[in-house]
Amino acid sequence: MTRFFFLLFLTSTACAPLDKKESKENELSSSKTDDYFRVVEGHDEEIDQDLIKKGEVLIAYSDCLDCHKIENRAKGPAFLDIAKRYPYQEVYINLLSRKIINGGNGSWGNPIMSAHPNLSFEDSKAMAAYVLSLDKLED
Ligand code: HEC
Repeated sequence: MTRFFFLLFLTSTACAPLDKKESKENELSSSKTDDYFRVVEGHDEEIDQDLIKKGEVLIAYSDCLDCHKIENRAKGPAFLDIAKRYPYQEVYINLLSRKIINGGNGSWGNPIMSAHPNLSFEDSKAMAAYVLSLDKLED
């Protein structure tokens, strides 16, 4: 019996601060929709049109779109949000292509991206370049 009350006590104290935190987050997110990530500052390098075309095709034939949508968050972040987050630069293309091959989590929250060990670095680079180019094409 005491154990039951102890549990009750635990759950009630655990929920109280959480509610407060949540309402604060709601206030923050009402002003901007994409503030769940921090934008990395930097200029964009020249877009390699052949590379991004190749990336677009490779993505269409892979499993990426099971978890990613272009404009909206799904299991994974929206490709457009990824493009807004990182500048189009060789460094970030390399970084993201390694992440596409190895999988992982932690940059966008809890869900895990599956690994793609059969992709070559060259192909995953094209995919990463295509994703990063998405918000820069109209400029
Ligand atoms: C099983 C679902 C799933 C599949 C399949 C998947 N992704 Fe992801 N992807 C995720 C999740 C979840 C994240 C966020 C990971 C994180 O928070 O670090 C992510 C993140 C990313 C990122 C950003 C990584 C970062 O560190 O900012 C890129 C780029 C990306 N995915 C590209 C791809 C490409 C290209 C493919 C296809 C080859 C693919 N994803 C397939 C779920 C998936």
